[in-house]
Amino acid sequence: MTDIAILASLATDLTGGRTSGLRYLDDQGTLAIVLDVTGLAEDDRKPLEETLRAGLLARSGVTSVRVAMTAERKAMTIIAVGSGKGGVGKSTLAANLAVALRRAGVKVGLVDADIYGPSQPRLMDSEGVKPEARGSKLSPVQSAYGVPMLSTGQIAAPGQAIAWRGPMAGRALEQLIDASWGDIDTLVVDLPPGTGDVQLTMIQKHKPTGAVVVSTPQDLALMDAARAVSLFEQAEVPIIGVVENMAGYACPHCGEVSDPFGSGGAEAAAKEMELDFLGRVPLSMGIRLASDGGVPPAAGTDPLGEPFHAIAAKVAAWLAARKGI
Ligand SMILES: Nc1ncnc2c1ncn2[C@@H]1O[C@H](COP(=O)(O)OP(=O)(O)O)[C@@H](O)[C@H]1O
Ligand SMILES: [Mg+2]
Repeated sequence: MTDIAILASLATDLTGGRTSGLRYLDDQGTLAIVLDVTGLAEDDRKPLEETLRAGLLARSGVTSVRVAMTAERKAMTIIAVGSGKGGVGKSTLAANLAVALRRAGVKVGLVDADIYGPSQPRLMDSEGVKPEARGSKLSPVQSAYGVPMLSTGQIAAPGQAIAWRGPMAGRALEQLIDASWGDIDTLVVDLPPGTGDVQLTMIQKHKPTGAVVVSTPQDLALMDAARAVSLFEQAEVPIIGVVENMAGYACPHCGEVSDPFGSGGAEAAAKEMELDFLGRVPLSMGIRLASDGGVPPAAGTDPLGEPFHAIAAKVAAWLAARKGI
């Protein structure tokens, strides 16, 4: 039988140094070897394994080769987008943040974890598209805007998601986050609104790198936002900052800007809580129409996308500073 040291150096050459633990399992020529496939795309793993196996089998005395493939779990950067209650534009912000980060060169994916009202398939124009399973993992759906995505709405029958309870919701989210994301290293996660146990469990389990809290300017919404902030703090998730949505309404007829929900409240509240203020998105018919039509304003060159790009730039800067630590 060929000497183990010779085989080990051959295995190193064949795989670019990805092998370890080579040994004979018996005196019949059965080899065992560990192949580290970390960072390789799913499609590249099998050919590499075959090359390794064939190379070893070609040596005298080697009768069979057992290859154990291992991959370190890639640590994803997770940006959680949360709100104290529904209807404040959390999903709109999450979709546009993902699209804007992508434009800024971040390898970003989008996860819709809002089991109560998954809306990313509509926002990202991928309604009715089902993700495929590759092996035991889901393959994200490629949206039209260069941001791969997975939504609870894509893996549950319509109307079913709402019945999910804690553990089931946790498992579903696990599947979405631990999918075959390829070279994606950052996920924007649209969380369920509110501050209940389901949210807390999700946050604790999938420990976001940072959180963005969305609020409208009214006092009541701000109180809810403060609860969302304390939920993240309780789970020791750093708050990237607060976004004020639906601030100021530009009348499409006369152009006059009015403030149906007030304005500036979220900025003041952020200051009070010693949090960064990431920006203000106006209440605009254009944003509503584009969103419902599956065209995130941040995807085009329309000025409607500008607030989202400015917010994304702040988020990207926060992430970059954090990586530098
Ligand atoms: N800045 C905005 N201007 C106008 N409409 C908006 C704005 N932000 C969100 N909307 C609309 O408000 C509704 C709720 O927004 P959504 O993002 O689904 O909220 P949430 O995820 O917090 O429930 C949607 O119809 C959306 O298009
Ligand atoms: Mg939503």
